Amino acid sequence: MLEALDELFSPGCVTRAADDLAHWGRDWTTAYKAAPSAVVFPKSIHEVVALVRWAGSHGVALVPSGGRTGLSGGAVANHGEVVVSFDRMNAISDFRPADRLVTCQAGVVTANLQGFATEQGLSYPVDFASSGSSQIGGNIATNAGGIKVIRYGLTRDWVAGLTVVSGSGEILECNQGLIKNATGYDLRHLFVGSEGTLGFIVEAQMRLALAPPPQRVMVLGVPRFADILEVLSAMQARLVLSAFEFFADQALAKVMAHRDLQSPLSARVAFYALIEFDDDALEEATAVFEHCVASGWVVDAVLSQSDTQAGQLWQLREAISESIAPFTPYKNDISVCIGDMPGFLDAVEMLVAREYPDFEVCWYGHIGDGNLHLNILKPESMDTQAFYARCHEISPKVFQAVAEKNGSISAEHGVGLLKRDFLGFSRSPAEIGVMRGLKGVLDPHGIMNPGKLL
Ligand code: MLT
Ligand code: ZN
Repeated sequence: MLEALDELFSPGCVTRAADDLAHWGRDWTTAYKAAPSAVVFPKSIHEVVALVRWAGSHGVALVPSGGRTGLSGGAVANHGEVVVSFDRMNAISDFRPADRLVTCQAGVVTANLQGFATEQGLSYPVDFASSGSSQIGGNIATNAGGIKVIRYGLTRDWVAGLTVVSGSGEILECNQGLIKNATGYDLRHLFVGSEGTLGFIVEAQMRLALAPPPQRVMVLGVPRFADILEVLSAMQARLVLSAFEFFADQALAKVMAHRDLQSPLSARVAFYALIEFDDDALEEATAVFEHCVASGWVVDAVLSQSDTQAGQLWQLREAISESIAPFTPYKNDISVCIGDMPGFLDAVEMLVAREYPDFEVCWYGHIGDGNLHLNILKPESMDTQAFYARCHEISPKVFQAVAEKNGSISAEHGVGLLKRDFLGFSRSPAEIGVMRGLKGVLDPHGIMNPGKLL
């Protein structure tokens, strides 16, 4: 039956080669083995429509594939699905300066959109370590966050319009760039974070921001975990932050070894906060730093003296994910409201110490957004399946602590396959019922990324 794909697409746009299936059949999640039956590379919206209609009438499951940088298995095809790669729908087709709006096909790489914005004297401010590979369609489908959320918000906040091919093969134009539009349900927001389960995002109108003023980066050494939050509120009381990240010394050790970098401070400290702020707020930032030292929260700091040095300091945070990847990390990506963070941190720290006494644990994250990345590293001698099984047993306890604070079990990586069984810790049965109902309407044949999210 899959031979029909060769009729739907031009030559060279369908592959069944084993290497290609392995490459496009999975994302950065290491827990699953890729097993798609084909990969297709549509070049137009109409090809996507034809594919979805064909798949609907033959009951063929489709898995969307962007930059495949996801960490929850949302883009994994492990049951003979057809992978739909947006790599060849990667044009920036229109720019409207008066609206500061740019139209991108789903496969535009985040860094290319950022570069385009810079060329126009503007910026696309959503940023993450994977910007060089991740694609706009995937960012929208997972409502990607990253390192500047504290100032600029999530991907959702920059989506002004979406063109979507629904699971029934209809083209939906959602909002079309308008700022004001009070004509009922805003379907655009239904597709943001839908992980490809309702339809495929094929084109997006993204809003751009004014170019940011010059920035400074400061890395501060904080001996006690809880004091990071004291530093955060002291900083936020006096200056506008562009970023407030943290990482533990274990994470720094991995980055230094992986990238051959020096320690940022003369002595090693248990935790570090990395902050970014406008250059003209330097005096305020220095005053807050001195207050933090006098209060005993901070022992030392380093301040960037150039953009190059700022980039080097950012590497200490941004390279953590790739540095720990060889240790087969089990990733927890959890969030609570900032005000709930102190009690939550104590609870999770105790739980982790009790449940994972013999595992290396690596903390980092976007603590200014209430988002913690808790990575459990696999002991070298342990079998991967046994390791995942053990972590899966412990996860409900971590998620229970999250649920007690009305937090999220997936702050930014998405639910995908990895968190699907745990969705009930963050969403009520009534909400999940409504989600299933929406899925039934938009994906009546159940072919859009089945098995993910719900
Ligand atoms: C990050 O914050 O570095 C990313 O979310 C990736 C990760 O958590 O490993
Ligand atoms: Zn993150």
